[in-house]
Amino acid sequence: MPTSPTESSRSTASGRSPEHVAIIMDGNGRWAQARGLPRFEGHRRGVEAVRGAVRSAIEFGIPYLTIYSFSSENWSRPAEEVAMLMGLLKRYIRNDLAELHGNDVRVRVIGQRVGLAPDIAALLDEAETLTRANHGLNLIVAFNYGARQEIVEAARRLAREATQGRLDPARIDIDMFASRLGAPDVPDPDLIIRTSGEQRLSNFLLWQAAYAELVFLPIHWPDFDRAAFESALAQFAGRERRFGGAGGAAPVKSVS
Ligand code: IPE
Ligand code: IPE
Ligand code: MG
Repeated sequence: MPTSPTESSRSTASGRSPEHVAIIMDGNGRWAQARGLPRFEGHRRGVEAVRGAVRSAIEFGIPYLTIYSFSSENWSRPAEEVAMLMGLLKRYIRNDLAELHGNDVRVRVIGQRVGLAPDIAALLDEAETLTRANHGLNLIVAFNYGARQEIVEAARRLAREATQGRLDPARIDIDMFASRLGAPDVPDPDLIIRTSGEQRLSNFLLWQAAYAELVFLPIHWPDFDRAAFESALAQFAGRERRFGGAGGAAPVKSVS
C-alpha cells in the first residue's frame, strides 16, 4: 500500500481512482465527548470537515462525491440535536452555495423531500437549481435519506406504472429498477468510506453498494482531512475488484 501522498496520488491516478466516493460521516458526537465538549461542537467541526472533503475531491479529480448528512432514522435523536443539525445544514448552504457554484460544483440531494421544513426544502431546491448546469464535481447530499425507503419508492413507482398499463411487470429488470432510484444517472459508488470505526452501512445506498469497496477509518469525522482521504483512496487502489469474476488484472464482467 502506498505510504506517501506522492505514491498514493500516482497509484490512484493510474486507472485505479474511484469515479464515485460515498462517505458515511460518523463520529461527531464522540469526537466532542472525548474533548469534554457538547455534541453540537462535534457537528460544527464536522461541517469544516465537509468543506475539506469537497476541496479534496475536487483536487483529486473525483467526479462524484456523496455525503451522508442526515438519515431517515436520525429523527429519533433528541429534538435539540435534530434542530441543531437542521440549523447547520441551512447555514452550510447559505454560506457555501455561492462558492460551490463558483467552483463549478453541481449539487444534488437524495432523500425524502416531503415533510421537510419549508425553508430547508427551499434551500435544497435552490442549491440544485443554481448549480444544475455545472460540470465539475457532482456533490450528492444524502439528507433525510434511507436506502430502504428509496427502494420502496422505486417499487411503488414501478407498481403505479404497471397498474396504469404503462409497464409490463415482466419487463422489470435490474436497470429498470435502478432507473427509479433517487439519482439514477449517478454511477454506483466504487468506494464507501465510514469514519468513527463503526463497520456498518446504517441504511446507506443499500442497492448501489452491491460491489462497492468499503473502507472503515478509525477516526471521527471532524478529524477527516486530506491525508485521511488519501489513505482511503490508497486502500481502494490496493483492492482487487472482481465483480463475481475469477479475478486477474482487470475486472471480468462478462464472458465472450
Ligand atoms: C455523525 O456523527 C453525524 C450524523 C449522524 C448526523 P454522530 O452524531 O452520529 O456522532 P456519534 O456517532 O454519535 O459519535
Ligand atoms: C449514519 O450514522 C448516518 C449519518 C452519518 C448521517 P448514525 O450515527 O446515524 O448511524 P448508527 O446509528 O451508528 O448506525
Ligand atoms: Mg453516529
